[in-house]
Amino acid sequence: MVKAVVLGAAGGIGQPLSLLLKTSPLIDELALYDVVNTPGVAADISHISTTATVTGFLPADDGLRHALTGADIVVIPAGVPRKPGMTRDDLFKVNAGIVRDLAKGISEYCPKAYTLIISNPVNSTVPVAAEVFRNAGVLDPKRLFGVTTLDIVRAETFAQEFTGQKVPSATTIPVVGGHSGETIVPLFSQAQPSFNVPEAKLDAIVNRIQFGGDEVVKAKNGGGSATLSMAYAGFRFAEKVLKAVSGEKGLVEPSFVYLPGVEGGEEIAKEVGVDFFSVPVELGPSGVVKANNVLANINDYERKLLEVAIKGLKGNIEKGVEFVKNPP
Ligand code: NAI
Repeated sequence: MVKAVVLGAAGGIGQPLSLLLKTSPLIDELALYDVVNTPGVAADISHISTTATVTGFLPADDGLRHALTGADIVVIPAGVPRKPGMTRDDLFKVNAGIVRDLAKGISEYCPKAYTLIISNPVNSTVPVAAEVFRNAGVLDPKRLFGVTTLDIVRAETFAQEFTGQKVPSATTIPVVGGHSGETIVPLFSQAQPSFNVPEAKLDAIVNRIQFGGDEVVKAKNGGGSATLSMAYAGFRFAEKVLKAVSGEKGLVEPSFVYLPGVEGGEEIAKEVGVDFFSVPVELGPSGVVKANNVLANINDYERKLLEVAIKGLKGNIEKGVEFVKNPP
C-alpha cells in the first residue's frame, strides 16, 4: 500500500498535481492537505474512477497529522508564488516558514517518507527542510529531494524549439546546480544520447531555460507562476521515485539533494564547494542510490556557467540553513 500526500494541494500546482497523482496506479491512498479548500478538491478528485482513495484535510482537528500519518511520499507545493518583478528569493520570508513547519510535521508523523520540495526558493527551502530533519534526528539525504524537473522539461522543450530537431523521448539533458536564474546550468554536452545544439544558439537557449519561469510569470500578469507545467514535472519526478521504490531499475533524474549524505555526493560536493546541488541521481528502493558526477567532461562554456551558479547558490543555501539555526 502506497500513501502519497500533497501539502498545498488546493493551490495552482497542488490541484493539477493531485489530479495526476490520482491517475497513478502506483498510489493506493492520496491525502490532500492545505490551509484552505481541500475538502472540495478532495471530493472532486475522489470521483475519478482510479483505485486510489482520496481524503482532504485542513489544519483544524489535527489535519496535518492525519494527512501525514503513514505517508510514503510527500510532495510540497505549499507557499506563495511569484508576481511580475519578483525573484524566487523574494519568496523566502514567507515560504521558508511554511516549509519549516511542514517539515516539522513530516519529522514527527512520517519521518521515513520521501519528501519532494517544490516550494520556492528551492535553493533555500531544501536546506531549511534538511536542517529541520537534522534537528529532529531524522535526516536521510537519500529521501529528501528538491524538485528541479521543470528545468529539465524546459531544456527538452526548448532544445526542440531552437533546433527544429525532435528530442527523442529517451534523451536526458542533465540540468545541474540550483533552481533559479543563473544557478540553473543545462549541460548539453552531457546529453545522452548526444543531442547537438549549434553554438550560435547556445546563449539564447541557455538563457531561456534559466529564465523560462519569468515568461510564465509575465504572461500570467499577476496571476502567479508556472502551475500546469510544474504539476506535470512534479508528477514525473514523483512517479520515478515511486517506480524505483517498487523495484524498477535504471531510473535517473536530476534533483537538488544534500550531497554529503548520498553515495558519490561527497566527491561532487568537494568539486563544487557547496553541499546542496542538483545532479542526476539514480533512484532505487530507498531513494537515492547514487549521485552521478556529470561534471568531469563538461566544456569551457559550461564550466563558466557553473562558476556563476555556484556563487549564487552559496548565499541561497546559507540563508536556508541560517533560517533554522538562528530563527529571525
Ligand atoms: P498557489 O498560491 O496557487 O498555491 C499555494 C498553496 O499553498 C495555496 O493553496 C495555499 O493555501 C497553500 N498554503 C499556504 N500555506 C500553507 C501551509 N502552511 N500549509 C499548507 N498549504 C499552504 O501557488 P502555486 O502556483 O501552486 O506555487 C506554489 C509554490 O511552488 C510557490 O512557492 C512557487 O514559487 C513554487 N514553484 C516551484 C517550481 C519549481 O520548479 N520547483 C515551479 C513553479 C512554482
